[in-house]
Amino acid sequence: MKATIIDGKAIAGEIRQEVAEEVQQLQQRTGKTPGLAVLLVGDDPASNVYVRQKGKACQNVGIHSITEHLPADISQEQLLKRIEAFNENDRYHGILVQLPLPSHIDTRKVLEAIRPEKDVDCFHPFNVGRLTIGEPLFQPATPAGVVELLQRSGISPVGKHVVILGRSNIVGKPLANLLLQKSPQANAIVTVVHSAADDVAYFTRQADILVAAIGRPEFVRGNMIKPDAVVIDVGVNRVPADNEKGYRLVGDVAFDEACEVASHITPVPGGVGPMTIAMLLKNTLLAFKLHLEHGES
Ligand code: GUN
Repeated sequence: MKATIIDGKAIAGEIRQEVAEEVQQLQQRTGKTPGLAVLLVGDDPASNVYVRQKGKACQNVGIHSITEHLPADISQEQLLKRIEAFNENDRYHGILVQLPLPSHIDTRKVLEAIRPEKDVDCFHPFNVGRLTIGEPLFQPATPAGVVELLQRSGISPVGKHVVILGRSNIVGKPLANLLLQKSPQANAIVTVVHSAADDVAYFTRQADILVAAIGRPEFVRGNMIKPDAVVIDVGVNRVPADNEKGYRLVGDVAFDEACEVASHITPVPGGVGPMTIAMLLKNTLLAFKLHLEHGES
């Protein structure tokens, strides 16, 4: 095996520690605690796991969090009312609605109901727009986690060809925007490749840094990777397995094959996943600081 494994869990641990220290300092100075409201609609098993992880992570760094578990058949109007209540509640500086939502709910309308200063996911069109013009208020957690992971691993994207596989609003598109920014952490040449491409490998083989975010288990094979490329695997896919849970997690990259070709690679689990949660904590802290700056009580 050739590739160096990028330990997302360890790097996320550093960030959590930094957040915990700042939370404590701000608490001592202001007597206030940052708060995050998480809304979970329905019983999607993966969403349940993510929401539990987010709540636990908040607790570990001293952020107050509440999870509202709402029934799958909640009406859109009722859900919007819950969001409005948290918009008005000064105890909560960040609001997160876990996706995906049930099909009878208009996800766009729900995300647009969150006050932009509390939009720690960075999904509101106002925040997406700010990001696109290079003046982000928040940075979306998973893309920001990828950028931070590269930076803290000593891998500079400046002038490098980054190929992003996947064009979702949660990962592909915002990551392209982040990496295009003229900043020392970004300034990359970015290609976004997606399902309309006849020959995906033609594009992926040109990547100095390849980011896989398409949600297809082990889609990226060893022969789709340029020798010595950096491979960042954002995929979290459940595949059937003969164990207690009945499944195991695999990424969008065939890990063993990729390890023989790449110079660096993130594992699944333990790569990008922990970074997403760490960046959410950072965004909640930022939302709290915005609240303090505006002098609201
Ligand atoms: N579902 C999958 N990823 C995310 C995320 O980053 N935020 C929210 N709210 N839901 C998700």
